[in-house]
Amino acid sequence: MAYETLIVETRDHVGLVKLNRPEALNALNQKLLGELICALRKFDEDDAIRCIVLTGSEKAFAAGADIKEMSEKSYVEVFREDLFTAFHDDFLRIRKPIVAAVAGYALGGGCELAMMCDFIIAGDNARFGQPEINLGVIPGIGGTQRLTRFVGKSKAMDMNLTGRFMDAAEAERSGLVSRVVPADKLLDEALSVAAKIAEKPLLAAIAAKEAVNRAYETTLAEGVRHERRLFHALFATEDQAEGMAAFLEKRAPQFRGR
Ligand code: HXC
Repeated sequence: MAYETLIVETRDHVGLVKLNRPEALNALNQKLLGELICALRKFDEDDAIRCIVLTGSEKAFAAGADIKEMSEKSYVEVFREDLFTAFHDDFLRIRKPIVAAVAGYALGGGCELAMMCDFIIAGDNARFGQPEINLGVIPGIGGTQRLTRFVGKSKAMDMNLTGRFMDAAEAERSGLVSRVVPADKLLDEALSVAAKIAEKPLLAAIAAKEAVNRAYETTLAEGVRHERRLFHALFATEDQAEGMAAFLEKRAPQFRGR
């Protein structure tokens, strides 16, 4: 399918989605958000795909929600259309792992989008920020909530109140990103990490994603109970039998995603 605002490719078992509105630094307009959900859903439903990489350009992952589009809306309109809620909820329903590969600006909704992915690999030129306050608003898809959980209250307050940007080194130090790589190697690195995930048994990967994300939504005791249910459930999969048998037989496992 041809998209107006995305470039979508597959690399073996990895689905790659590149945000592609270079004229607006990949600002997130409604067209892009709709196409993004569509592309992610297709990969989620495709048995051949086991991990997804979401990226932008070397200059910008995404410079935020599209300010021009937003500026024309009234309170009544954003309230009635429940602006960004459907996108947020639909994105979180994607069950396969999504790796964000962030180079350049990840600001406002762009930073929030990166944080909604399962983890972030940053190019060394990445800049993260929640500058919404400069526009008279605050983040609308998790920038006050996820950022606070990821980097702690002090840095989250600093970023949300001053609108300052965090560079890649600070983002790694603060736990916002899992690794930093040279910007010109970012996509290769992210694809190679995703290829590694794609070798894993898919049901265990989906369960791991679900369980880690649960840690941000519930108490420790509930989270551990949820983890244990998923752990037990994986004993019903062929890949569990195969993984353990392969270990004991000292051979490589042949996972089939069942
Ligand atoms: C619409 C945008 C945009 C945005 C950049 N552009 N960001 N258009 N929405 N968020 C457009 C510019 O208007 C310009 O178009 C072109 O992209 C290049 O941008 P420049 O500003 O000329 O580039 P540069 O000088 O390199 O500065 C880069 C920048 C700056 C620092 C990233 O563009 C910037 O501050 N952008 C806004 C960042 C921001 O405030 N984001 C938060 C948005 S609110 P023209 O046509 O002039 O060439 C938000 C709310 C989230 O995200 C709510 C939930 C989703």
